[in-house]
Amino acid sequence: MANGKIAFAMVGLPARGKTYMARKIARYLSWLGHDTRVFNVGSYRRNRIGARQTHEFFDPENPSGAEARRQLALAALDDMLGWLRSGGDVAIYDATNSSRARRDLLRAACAERGVELVFVESVCDDATIVDANVRLTKARSPDYADVDADTAVRDFLARIHHYEHSYQTVSDDEGAYVRVIDVGRKVEAHRIRGSIAARVVYFLLNLHIQPRSFWLTRHGESEANVLGAIGGDTGLSLRGQGYADALAEFVHARVAPGGSPLVVWTSTLQRTIATAAPLGLPTTRWKALDEIDAGRCDGMTYAEIAGQMPEEWAARQTDKFRYRYPRGESYEDVITRLEPILLGLERERTPVLVVAHQAVIRALYAYLLDRPAAECPRIDVPLHTVLELTPTAYGCDEKRWPLAPSPLDQEGFRAV
Ligand code: SIN
Repeated sequence: MANGKIAFAMVGLPARGKTYMARKIARYLSWLGHDTRVFNVGSYRRNRIGARQTHEFFDPENPSGAEARRQLALAALDDMLGWLRSGGDVAIYDATNSSRARRDLLRAACAERGVELVFVESVCDDATIVDANVRLTKARSPDYADVDADTAVRDFLARIHHYEHSYQTVSDDEGAYVRVIDVGRKVEAHRIRGSIAARVVYFLLNLHIQPRSFWLTRHGESEANVLGAIGGDTGLSLRGQGYADALAEFVHARVAPGGSPLVVWTSTLQRTIATAAPLGLPTTRWKALDEIDAGRCDGMTYAEIAGQMPEEWAARQTDKFRYRYPRGESYEDVITRLEPILLGLERERTPVLVVAHQAVIRALYAYLLDRPAAECPRIDVPLHTVLELTPTAYGCDEKRWPLAPSPLDQEGFRAV
């Protein structure tokens, strides 16, 4: 890492989306190849003293509660610094850190260990957003298992109230910080240096909480697929054409019914452009969505590679994620070039249909479903199947829609 060790410490009142942001940052940086981990002080509390603590526990006037919270915060901090020392790259310290005194303590501890510290503050005074967050996530959290929804909401609001008394916003003399106001309406950055911190600021600029789904599909079967050859830039087989027609039918019935807005992205290769053509919708062609570049193996079958280039074949079997085709790319390279696509997906507020290729869909899927990037080559992404991925508060729901070839193309299907 160019920057050495770095910690991001969340700051903000409860129910301001800190955990949402912390997990998203972690998912993004892990996907980019940085060993990243979240240290959530609330989890330490739940694990060490039990989830069920009423709001009085969080009252700063309650000395035993305050001392217990301090000890939990220190335990998480200790573990975080230990983890960074033993090889981790980026830590995210997920807690309220709402007082200057607590942040000073964090800064001193990080400085002593040579860890760069950046505060990520989330400020939100929009009562509708806070209220929805309390009802939809907090009142359903393990803190309120077996508690009725109204009691949970009342207790959580009282908890927020306790923090409001002591909350101090981050000030310029506290070093590097990024402040996100009203879920991205305004973003302030102060003393941000180094590529990881700058990336995180740009990532946060793209985040929003508007619900929408991502629809991912590989192109229809190509002429090269029929021959078992990788790469190339062939058109669709008859069966692939059938899929393109079925996809158009599916999209107009289910993805964007009644002409509702839909963003459609393809690669620059014929097979994705032809798959999206029957949709009759404007599409954007991204070079970044092109299939992994197989370099000197382009156009060969796997059997040909194994027979003619046994050393390449063996290297690929050993580490499919890092293996780079001669004069071509690895999965790791594909992830690097997909970064603008990922940021575009985060930024879009309307549903997006991505028509791309196996390696590319696998890489995007790994990010959206929080799967280790190194697992990319093993993610199952069959042909002629649409993946519907819907981000939720802390994860992503998945549905798979295998589409039959359009009936008009049954002859073609048999011919293949
Ligand atoms: C918690 O116990 O849920 C979080 C404590 C804090 O960060 O203030």
